Amino acid sequence: MVKMPIEVRETLEKQKPVPIATASKDGVPNVVFVGLLKIIDDETLLIADNFFYKTAHNLDENPQISVLCYSSETKKSFQIKGRVEVHKSGAVHDEMASWVHGINPKLPAKAAIVVKVEAIYNAMWGPAAGKQVA
Ligand SMILES: Cc1cc2nc3c(=O)[nH]c(=O)nc-3n(C[C@H](O)[C@H](O)[C@H](O)COP(=O)(O)O)c2cc1C
Repeated sequence: MVKMPIEVRETLEKQKPVPIATASKDGVPNVVFVGLLKIIDDETLLIADNFFYKTAHNLDENPQISVLCYSSETKKSFQIKGRVEVHKSGAVHDEMASWVHGINPKLPAKAAIVVKVEAIYNAMWGPAAGKQVA
C-alpha cells in the first residue's frame, strides 16, 4: 500500500463525479461515474455500491480498480490504482449504509467497496505524464 500525498487527496476530494475503472477477468474494461466516494485515510477509499452491475461483477472476479481525478484550478491530475475488498454485510457495510442513508434513505446501499491504494500516477499532460508519484 502507498500513502496518498496531500495534493492527491485535495484533487480527489474536489472531483465530482469520480470516474472509476474496473475490468472483467478476461480484461474487458468498464468505466462508471460515482458520486459517493470518500477518503477514509491516506491509504484507503470507500465507495458506495448502490447501482453497480458490470462493476460489481468485475469486482467479484477481479479486485483491481483505477480511480481518476483532475482539477482545472490546480492543473493536477492523478490515477489512483488499488485493490478492493467488497463488504456486502457486517460492520463495514453497516457503516457505509448509515453514511449513504444519511444522504438519501432511499438508496439501496448494497455493498461497501473499500479501496486499498497501491500506486498513484501523474495523469496531467506534460513531461511528468505517466510518472509514478507514490
Ligand atoms: C453522476 C453519477 C454519479 C453516480 N454515483 C454512483 C454511486 O455513487 N454509486 C453507484 O453505485 N452508482 C453510481 N452511479 C451509477 C453508475 O455510474 C452506473 O450507472 C452503474 O454502476 C451501472 O453501470 P455498470 O453496469 O457499468 O456497473 C452514478 C452515475 C452518475 C451519472
